[in-house]
Amino acid sequence: MATRRKLIVGNWKMNGRLTSGLNLAKEIANRAIESMPLEFDVALCPPATLLWPISEALMGSPVMLGAQDCHYANHGAYTGDISAGMLADLGCRYVILGHSERRAAYEETGALIAKKVAAAQLAGLVTIVCVGETLEQRATGTTETAIVQQLSSSLPEKFHSSQLVVAYEPVWAIGSGDVPETDEVSSIHRLIRRSLGAMGEAVQVIYGGSVVPHNARDLLEQHEIDGVLVGGASLNSDGFWSIAEKAR
Ligand code: PGA
Repeated sequence: MATRRKLIVGNWKMNGRLTSGLNLAKEIANRAIESMPLEFDVALCPPATLLWPISEALMGSPVMLGAQDCHYANHGAYTGDISAGMLADLGCRYVILGHSERRAAYEETGALIAKKVAAAQLAGLVTIVCVGETLEQRATGTTETAIVQQLSSSLPEKFHSSQLVVAYEPVWAIGSGDVPETDEVSSIHRLIRRSLGAMGEAVQVIYGGSVVPHNARDLLEQHEIDGVLVGGASLNSDGFWSIAEKAR
């Protein structure tokens, strides 16, 4: 059986100002430094405005930096957008792509996300591609079809499996306090791996949606769950670190 390193990612979404964001990042960096050598990987994905100061603050710590989105072009006339190359320039290692909030609010399609994945991998970033069923899909028993379809449409024809992380995030679990049974998560993770074919065993598949300190151990103990993508609970250093520590 493949042993994959666990990955704990904080998705701050649109939260954090210069002072509060820097403080939070520094607190987490200090916790990580105290726990070195780390037996798991940790990344913070603050809003774009905080990437540079936090990149500097994380220097010398094992905590890695990630962004929450990028454009598919390398540069050009795209007002308001940020390219993958720009993120790499700031020291980002990861970028979250195809989060359900972006799929819903900006009507991001699989085809668009696939273009972003290709661009981000070309820039050297590890792409965290999010997939997940809606409550309606769950209710109608079409979860598995939805996940497989979403994943295949969100990946470009050619990609590096070493630069791919898949985040299984049931839409109904995000920010709701509801979490599927760990068995259900494991079985979807197996499905994701199978749908990736031969490379599936090596790809980290992480879970996201209402992860908090008290449910993190159960999730992280599962062989199929290679980490967690944490939203709300990543905005507090004690809470986030107590989740991360469950990956030991
Ligand atoms: P949550 O968000 O932990 O607040 O549910 C997870 C996510 O959207 O990535």
